[in-house]
Amino acid sequence: MTLDPAFQVFLGDCRARVERALDRWLPAQTTQPKRLHAAMRYATLGDGKRIRPVLVYGAGQALGVRPDCLDGAACAVELIHAYSLIHDDLPAMDDDDLRRGRPTCHRAYDEATAILAGDALQTLAFRVLCEDDGLCIDRADRLRMIAELAHAAGSRGMAGGQALDMEATGRQLDLAQLENLHIHKTGALILASVRLGALAAGAAKDARLPGLERYAKCIGLAFQVHDDVLDVEGDTAVLGKTRGKDAAADKATYPALIGLDAAREMARRLIDEALDTIAALDQAADPLRQLAHYIIGRRR
Ligand code: IPE
Ligand code: IPE
Ligand code: MG
Ligand code: MG
Ligand code: MG
Repeated sequence: MTLDPAFQVFLGDCRARVERALDRWLPAQTTQPKRLHAAMRYATLGDGKRIRPVLVYGAGQALGVRPDCLDGAACAVELIHAYSLIHDDLPAMDDDDLRRGRPTCHRAYDEATAILAGDALQTLAFRVLCEDDGLCIDRADRLRMIAELAHAAGSRGMAGGQALDMEATGRQLDLAQLENLHIHKTGALILASVRLGALAAGAAKDARLPGLERYAKCIGLAFQVHDDVLDVEGDTAVLGKTRGKDAAADKATYPALIGLDAAREMARRLIDEALDTIAALDQAADPLRQLAHYIIGRRR
């Protein structure tokens, strides 16, 4: 897809900012235990799209906060995401060999190192929220951020969604069950990214927040529906992960349940709804609008 030029600049800036922050917070690979630190850097600093950090910056900008007040939150959500990918790829879960165009962490290192790298990335995310001195917020909002991210990553959020995903493998779900699975495994961290951006703006009680949250829920579900679609019709070389793995493993996905066309149509409707919910925001919300289009237009 061709991206709006202003959005392309925004994406590039967000990615550069969060990658600088990640590089700063991740221990050097010369620090002991070297193999663990090398694996953490390998999995985090690879070629990711950084969509969750972009959402932190996008929501923060829509609410009028400077990007340097958002780097800590952007870094924290990406650390949780990087951890989730390492564990998702393990033999006990999706058993994947390719991630972001290169061997998965447990393939490049070993399973024990990959498990530990995931563990350590998760705790590093919370250290960043506790200690980052760029966050322009008081202690109460910092605590709210920590609680928000803990909830989103935990058993009633992403980890819970991954548990539902594993239970559902090889079984037929109904639409409500599949939606619940996707909302948790992917939607929870996407919603948290927007909420952390709002908290960084000191906007916990802002009248614009409910609309932004509805936006996040719609794009979060659309994101996973499109991920399912790409697993069917994508190109492994472009995706950077092996196409066709969901069908081969009999995963619960939208294309499997309702068919490819209906899944595409559903993602489109969700994006329309997301755009409607933020229609009243001014042009500072334009990156969020562009991001919504990008989520279902991307080929990786
Ligand atoms: C992949 O997420 C995992 C899902 C939740 C579907 P992304 O597509 O955001 O992965 P990267 O970070 O760009 O590699
Ligand atoms: C992964 O979903 C969700 C999380 C990592 C929490 P998928 O298993 O569909 O992600 P990919 O397709 O491997 O990136
Ligand atoms: Mg999975
Ligand atoms: Mg997977
Ligand atoms: Mg997938």
